[in-house]
Amino acid sequence: MRVLLTGGAGYIGSHTAVVLAERGHEVVIVDDYSNAHPEAVRRVAEIVGKAVPMVEADLANQKAAAQAFTDAAAALGGELDAVIHFAGLKAVGESVAQPTRYYRTNINSTLNVLDQMRAHSINRLVFSSSATVYGDPETNPIAETQQVGVGLTNPYGWSKAMNEQIIRDAAVVQKGFRAVLLRYFNPVGAHESGRIGEDPSGIPNNLMPFVAQVAVGKREQLSVFGSSYPTPDGTGVRDYIHVMDLAEGHAAALEAAGEGVAEYNLGSGKGSSVLEVVAAFEQASGRPVPYQIVDARPGDVAECVADPRKANAELNWQTTRSLADACADSWRWQSQNPNGYAKDGEVTA
Ligand code: UFG
Repeated sequence: MRVLLTGGAGYIGSHTAVVLAERGHEVVIVDDYSNAHPEAVRRVAEIVGKAVPMVEADLANQKAAAQAFTDAAAALGGELDAVIHFAGLKAVGESVAQPTRYYRTNINSTLNVLDQMRAHSINRLVFSSSATVYGDPETNPIAETQQVGVGLTNPYGWSKAMNEQIIRDAAVVQKGFRAVLLRYFNPVGAHESGRIGEDPSGIPNNLMPFVAQVAVGKREQLSVFGSSYPTPDGTGVRDYIHVMDLAEGHAAALEAAGEGVAEYNLGSGKGSSVLEVVAAFEQASGRPVPYQIVDARPGDVAECVADPRKANAELNWQTTRSLADACADSWRWQSQNPNGYAKDGEVTA
């Protein structure tokens, strides 16, 4: 298929581009590089041994989106078959501080993508949703049947729930439309080559990139947010999924998409605590990860673990990589690229 990846230069998009290209799909990336680096796309091309066309555009802008879809099809030499919509802002804390920016960017880009898909008769969409749409889950592991969009604690989460609804409504009026909403749990790790990985700007919000920066000596110690949750060791439990497993989930969803809209959890089904992640990273890197326990972070839930059985059965997909694999791959990426994609700190292979 000819597949347009919005936000394809980002963390999950770049890994998905590798998997799709290796499965014989033709990929074009649209990104505004506001939180991504063109170098990531160059390295994707290096990994797959084939050029990956890029179009620079801000999809939240209606005119720019129209031009981007035309340019993307031209770059692949034919009309597009599918879109995977990754583009969007994703920092939970920032979304609380800048709500209108988050809603404007995340909602407008989806509206424009849907309009362009209709205008170009593109009938296949995979959307980057998040386990955040479940809020504070009633039970763990979480199945897709649990309630969504109730009591969410930040604009980022609401924008994901709203986008799910917008896609459902748009699907009603486009004949033959197939949409898959993928609810990610906690993506971690990097491509096993160490050439692409997560490159957060500034201080990482998420656990694994923070731990990696402590291990490499860029930051002194980790703050563990809370130690009195009702979990085995008192720290928060999450379902960490290797980004390459997640990327394979996108390819599976793209290929299996049936008519209408379906939602799937992409997770491993296994929960790990913050202290278990720290221990796994120390083991994989051979470096100490000093930490201190601090107050819980507002808005965090005790536990968030996927029931991935629907995706396993209907998408013919399952995770094959462990937390130890993710730590080893994340360490390879972090130690070979201490400054991410920035040119000055680059250590070339
Ligand atoms: N944590 C720390 N210290 C840190 C960072 C995180 O102790 O410096 C803890 C958190 O309290 C939590 C766990 O590590 O228990 C994971 O935290 P992350 O920030 O890595 O991930 P979250 O589970 O909070 O958030 C992730 C995504 C969000 C998404 C959410 C949905 O980053 O985009 O899952 O469940 F909304």
